[in-house]
Order: sequence, then structure tokens, then C-alpha cells
Amino acid sequence: MNAFKLDGRDIPFEPGQTILQAVQAAGQEIPHLCYHPDFKPHGSCKLCSVRINGRMVSSCTAPAHDGMTVESDMPDINEERRTLLQMLFVEGNHFCPSCEKSGACRLQASAYELKMMSPHYDHFFPDRPVDASHADYLLDTNRCILCSLCVRASRDVDGKNVFALSGRGIHTRLIVNAKSGRLGDTDFSGEDKAAHVCPVGAILRKRVGFAVPIGQRPFDPPHEGD
Ligand code: SF4
Ligand code: FES
Repeated sequence: MNAFKLDGRDIPFEPGQTILQAVQAAGQEIPHLCYHPDFKPHGSCKLCSVRINGRMVSSCTAPAHDGMTVESDMPDINEERRTLLQMLFVEGNHFCPSCEKSGACRLQASAYELKMMSPHYDHFFPDRPVDASHADYLLDTNRCILCSLCVRASRDVDGKNVFALSGRGIHTRLIVNAKSGRLGDTDFSGEDKAAHVCPVGAILRKRVGFAVPIGQRPFDPPHEGD
């Protein structure tokens, strides 16, 4: 059987699986944001980085190899992950107390899991207009972490190409492929895969908010006695 060691534990794998896929199949986790099992890995967030023979690699893209030794839950690696998270938090307006995705947000959950306290950098405070032009969906790119999942879902699954990443470096932005740049002028719909993949609160359904009681949201910690 093919297997590798993750922080000292044996992880079996099928040939062709990435490190992250094998770890998840074994019922364990490596922090990640831009990976989604239904899509080709994007390798942009770097939260899933692990160390093999002293070298950092993205576990969502790196193939598993027999007998290798992988380090993930290490103080210095988690410190790097916290830094990445802090950068994402200051780049956008992540005011979780008023965000409908709070408790169901992968960015917030990763920050809790990695025990990130406040971000130590100056906030960018972006001021991009919220796009409320669509009848059923709201787009707030001030919360977008550029994971490109909506881009991949719309292009590869929905066959619509509603979203794209535009610009370079720090100026990269999520844009809507319509002449007006508005979501309401596309054929985006709630049936689309792209309507359900955003890991943060950037693409939100209208008129459904704060419906799940605190304590029962997807990333809420289990209660005692549950
Ligand atoms: S809107 Fe959401 S899914 Fe799309 S790139 Fe931004 S964070 Fe990712
Ligand atoms: S999950 Fe691997 S780089 Fe984002």
C-alpha cells in the first residue's frame, strides 16, 4: 500500500492523489481556502503549504509520494499561515459581526482554527461598490479573497463565464463579465454552481440572512453534550 507520513501519522493514498486529497480521505485536514474537491486546484492561497525535506509546497497541488515525510501542524508553518490570513483580513473589509456568512465562512473558520488574533497590519479599507443589481444575489467584492472558485465554477460547470479575475498583483480584482460590469446584466442564477462555492461572504443570496441560529452554523464548534 502507498503511504506517507503526515506529522508522524501514516496516510495511505491512491496513485494520482495530491497530499491534501489523501489527508482528507484519511479523515484529517490541512488548512486550505482555494481548494474545492470539485475543481482543479488553483494553488493561490498558500494556506495549505506543508514542508517536505525542508521545502515548502502547496499540498493541494503536490502529488503524494510513497514514503515521504510531510510536516504540516508545526509552530513555524502555522505562524506563516496566520500571517497569510492576516494579510487577507486587512486586504478586504472583513467585518464579521455584520456579515451574513459569519459562522459559515472558511476564512473566518481558518482564522479561528489557527488562533489568529487581530491582524497586525494596516487595513486597506477598500471601497468598492456593492453590486446589488441581480434580483436574487448580492456581490460584495470588498470581501473577495480571489480564490477564483466562482470563476472556475461559472466557466467549467455552468458554462457561463460570469466572473473573471482582472488586473495584476495587488490590483487583481474579481470582475463580472458584462458590458456594464453588473451581475444583474448576466445570466447568473441561483441554480448555478457558482452561486454556491464562495468560501467567504462575497456572493450572498438576497433576502435570506441570519437564518441559522448561532451554535448551529457550519463552522460553529460543537456544543457540550452534542
Ligand atoms: S467572490 Fe468568492 S468565490 Fe469568487 S473569487 Fe471572490 S472569494 Fe472566491
Ligand atoms: S488550498 Fe492550496 S494553495 Fe489554496
